[in-house]
Formats: sequence, C-alpha cells, structure tokens
Amino acid sequence: MAVDLLLGLQWGDEGKGKIVDVLTSNYNIIARFQGGPNAGHTLVFNGMKHVLHTIPSGIFHEDAVNLVGNGVVIDPVIFKNELDKLATQNVDYRKSLVISRKAHLILPTHRLLDAASEASKGKAKIGSTLKGIGPTYMDKTGRNGIRVGDLELDNWKEKYRALANKHESMVAFYNVDLEYDLEELETEFFEAVKVLKSLKFIDSEEYLHQAQRDQKSILAEGAQGSLLDIDFGTYPFVTSSNTTAAGACTGLGIAPNSIGEVFGIFKAYTTRVGSGPFPTELFDEVGETMGRVGNEFGATTGRSRRCGWLDLVALRYACQVNGVTQLMMMKADVLSGFKALKVCTAYNYKGDIIHHFPYNVESENITPIYTDFDGWEEDLTEMDNESTLPKSLLTYIEFLEKELEIPIKVVSVGPDRKQTIFR
Ligand code: GDP
Ligand code: IMO
Ligand code: MG
Repeated sequence: MAVDLLLGLQWGDEGKGKIVDVLTSNYNIIARFQGGPNAGHTLVFNGMKHVLHTIPSGIFHEDAVNLVGNGVVIDPVIFKNELDKLATQNVDYRKSLVISRKAHLILPTHRLLDAASEASKGKAKIGSTLKGIGPTYMDKTGRNGIRVGDLELDNWKEKYRALANKHESMVAFYNVDLEYDLEELETEFFEAVKVLKSLKFIDSEEYLHQAQRDQKSILAEGAQGSLLDIDFGTYPFVTSSNTTAAGACTGLGIAPNSIGEVFGIFKAYTTRVGSGPFPTELFDEVGETMGRVGNEFGATTGRSRRCGWLDLVALRYACQVNGVTQLMMMKADVLSGFKALKVCTAYNYKGDIIHHFPYNVESENITPIYTDFDGWEEDLTEMDNESTLPKSLLTYIEFLEKELEIPIKVVSVGPDRKQTIFR
C-alpha cells in the first residue's frame, strides 16, 4: 500500500501537527522522518493544547502506531519530558510508540556546540532553536554519530565518552563565553537514556516494508518546512535535514515509487522564525496584527514569528520540489477583518520580473509583485462547511488553486481538531 506524506511548504509552523492529528483516524501508522526537537507541533482538542517535539502527532489515537524514523535526531532528555507529559494525559505510549535503531542521538555536547557555533557567528547567526540539531546531523554525515541501536551494545558509553570529549575540545575552539556544567547535563542525559531504552527499538525500514505488504496505511509526518530544507531552502538559514518529500524516502527507507498522496500544508499568509530572507515580510501594523491574531509565537522557543503576505513564488517552488498532490490551507480565520489582502505572484529581481524562486532571495535583490484581494469581515471559527465561507475567501482560494494547479482540499479555521473544513 502506498505511503502518504504530509509536509510544510513554508518556513515551518504551518499547522502540521493539527492536520496529522485530524488525519490519523485514516491511518494505521504515523511516522516522523526527519528533524528532531527543533519541531513544535501543536494539537488542540477537548479544550486542551498539546505540543509535541519528537513524538509523532498521531500519539493521541489509541489504535495508531507512532514511529520515530531513522532520519530523526532524538534528544533523550526532551523525549523523556514528552513521555512524562503524555503519562499525565494517560496516553499508553508503550503500546503505540516505536523507535528506529538507526535514528541518531543528540548528546548534551551537541547542544553546547550549537550554542557555541551560534554565539561565534554574531549577527550572522542562523537563529537555531539551540537543540543541537546541526551538530548532530554533522556527526551523522561525518560518520561519528551515536545511534539508538548503539544503546543496546555494551560499549556504547565508551563511544559516548570519546565523542563528548572531542565535542568539549571543539567547544573550547569556538572561544566564546559559554557556561555549562557537563556533569549535571550528563546525569540528566543518562537518566533519560534509561527511559528511552525501556521503549521498543525496531529495524524500522523492515517494519514499514512489512506493514506495506500487510496493506497497512502509513502517513509520513514532516517537520520544519520546505524553505528550511538543507538543499532547497534559503541556505544557510535552514535546518540540517531534508524537510522535503525526498527526506521521507531516506528518513524512513520508503521507496520513491511507493509514495501516494503528498499533502502540502501552508498558512493563508506566511511566517518565519529565526534569521534569513523573507521577501514578503511585513514590518507594519498589518504584520503586527497577523502575529497578534494568529498568536504567532514559536511552539518550541516562544520566539515571536515574523509575518507577511502569502508568497506564491515560494509556494509554487515548494509544490514542485515535493510533488504536492493536495493542498491544505491553514489559519484562514486569522485573515478575517483585513480590508484588503495581497498575494505575491512574481518578484522584481534586480529589475527583471521573475516567477521562479531564485538562488539569492535576499531582500535587497527582490521586490515582491502583488495581486490585491478583497478581505472579509466574517468570523470563520464556527464555520464547518465550505458553503458558509465568505465569497471573498472563496475567490482567494480559487485564485491560489488556479495559480498552483493543485486543489485545496482542507481549509482550517481555528486550532481545534474540529475547526477543519474538508472540500
Ligand atoms: P506545526 O509546527 O506545523 O505543527 O505548527 P505549530 O504548532 O508550530 O504552529 C501552528 C500554530 O497555529 C499552533 O499554535 C496551532 O494551534 C495553530 N493553528 C493551527 N491551525 C490553525 C488555524 O486554522 N487557525 C488558527 N487560528 N490557529 C491554528
Ligand atoms: P516545525 O516542525 C519553524 C528554524 C529555526 C532556525 C532554523 C535552524 O515546528 O515547523 P535548527 O534548530 O533546526 O538548527 O534551526 O530553522 N526552525 C523552525 N522554524 N518551525 C520549525 O519546526 C523549525 N525547526 C527549525 O528557527 O531559523
Ligand atoms: Mg511548529
């Protein structure tokens, strides 16, 4: 059976967690394929809000298996915190959560290296979440990493010590002011590793192949967004993994020809947290209103998110790279009350009009070209049917579908599971 993918098409925080939770009732297995605790996926139901970082967003559905794939990087400490929170919600995660032996571990010293690297960059910093993501993927590709499966070997602590010692000398090399107590960090780490080891480790690529043969339905859950992809994002202001569709193949061991639907999620406007170019960013009252109404604060770091108009040049690029088959538009409710809306349909790039996402998207090179739309006054948050949506919103949606040549199958009108309109 084909594997469906769900990915963010912008700079993350599109609402992936909400939609995975909504779709989980249609799937047997939910599988995270990349990223780590830099992600913050928010789910809202029964009046409660839950934020997941590493654990797949299907965890609140009893019947689904939730798999952390080989492409994910796991910080045992953050993982344990997530498990502790689930336990308070009476979620029986031992039954439903499985972890790939090939997933890499984030060590306390990876977090220190992240902090040291950012501090050394000064103004040029990436705006990393400081969760140790970059250094951990560097050790993975540098062939130095420690994997979940290593925890089952007798000598893993020796491997750990050698790597942590090396990291400490690298931290010193950065020559930045960084206070830390490694002993304390390690005590917490080893405690958390014990908890991690009590969970079920699997050879996940084999597990998924067997599941496919058994006609089990699988949804791969992306983290971050396409414009943060290590290859296709706004490099170097990106994360360190492939957040795009190809990442699901390498991050789970799924063959390209077994991919079915590719669900592409985007906000009705655009946000970005951290540094880096953002052509349609707003620095005025309109952007401030989007941030306030949309409650645009990072689910992992609490930082305020930068806001701006929808960018179709960037969105078309993301749809192409991912082979998106269905679109899902989130946070339409946030745009209620805006007199007029703008959508960027092309860039003026150093004097030329272009329609593709160029190599260099720094704002000094780009002036967005906008198409204007009428806004709508109606509050959407109680609406549950397409027929009740305001005419101006339908015009907006139809314009996007025509430009992107992909149907918008879901319109989200609030954070709750129930505030989801299928078209
Ligand atoms: P993710 O990282 O893609 O899972 O997204 P985040 O959870 O980081 O950020 C999305 C934020 O928007 C969360 O606070 C969600 O609760 C919220 N949200 C999701 N969909 C909607 C929506 O349609 N309307 C509103 N107002 N909020 C939404
Ligand atoms: P979800 O899954 C938004 C951003 C960081 C920073 C850059 C690199 O919740 O959509 P990293 O810690 O990965 O080295 O940071 O990427 N970033 C995200 N922005 N949502 C995320 O995840 C993000 N994960 C990383 O802000 O700019
Ligand atoms: Mg998020």
